[in-house]
Amino acid sequence: MRNKKVLVGASILSEDFFDIQKTIKKLNSSDVDFIHLDVMDGVFVPNISFGPAFIKNIRPYTKKFFDVHLMVKNPLPYIERFVEAGADAISVHIEAKNAMKSIKLIKSFGKKCCIVVNPKTDAKKVKKFLDFVDAVMVMTVEPGFGGQKFMENQLVKISKISNLIKKSGRKISLEVDGGINFETGKLAVQNGVNILVVGSFLFKQKKFNETILKLKSY
Ligand code: DX5
Ligand code: ZN
Repeated sequence: MRNKKVLVGASILSEDFFDIQKTIKKLNSSDVDFIHLDVMDGVFVPNISFGPAFIKNIRPYTKKFFDVHLMVKNPLPYIERFVEAGADAISVHIEAKNAMKSIKLIKSFGKKCCIVVNPKTDAKKVKKFLDFVDAVMVMTVEPGFGGQKFMENQLVKISKISNLIKKSGRKISLEVDGGINFETGKLAVQNGVNILVVGSFLFKQKKFNETILKLKSY
């Protein structure tokens, strides 16, 4: 039986950045477990979002945990800036430059760290990171944009990684990002996921907090 409680984080990528205080207030009065912040450099992914200054600006307005997802080609020189900006957890891609060095640096600041795998990356590649990370995150869309369709072919990889985590005997979370809704969220959890990141589906809902609670109940 699964004993891990499902945690839900909200990705604000598809929200109006001009009116971000409204989004933050909505999240503050909800049961969401964390805020997922998508940083994009226009090189690692074909889109540009925001950097540490934006994160620093919103930090005083919420006590929620900040999960910073770095979709950048070389995260290493920027880790410290994101720590200073108020990140509680930082995720780096396995496909990025200096992934292992970045993970170790994040740990050295006492922050939670997560290794992320793109849809085309093999599950086996995460093995060498399992001694160092707090979480593994599987992308279920090609990173770059919110509102894409969940790639069901990633479910096999999710359960393979879930088994690798079990075998490691370590307390590592398994997280999924991209195209999460009630149906795909449930599929992910059934395959071993305990953290769901949800963006456009959540913010479209009239029953905002009920949506969060339903996803958390999986
Ligand atoms: C994709 C981002 C995701 C995405 C989630 O590159 O990393 O966090 O914004 O949004 P939805 O739930 O709309 O796929
Ligand atoms: Zn993300």
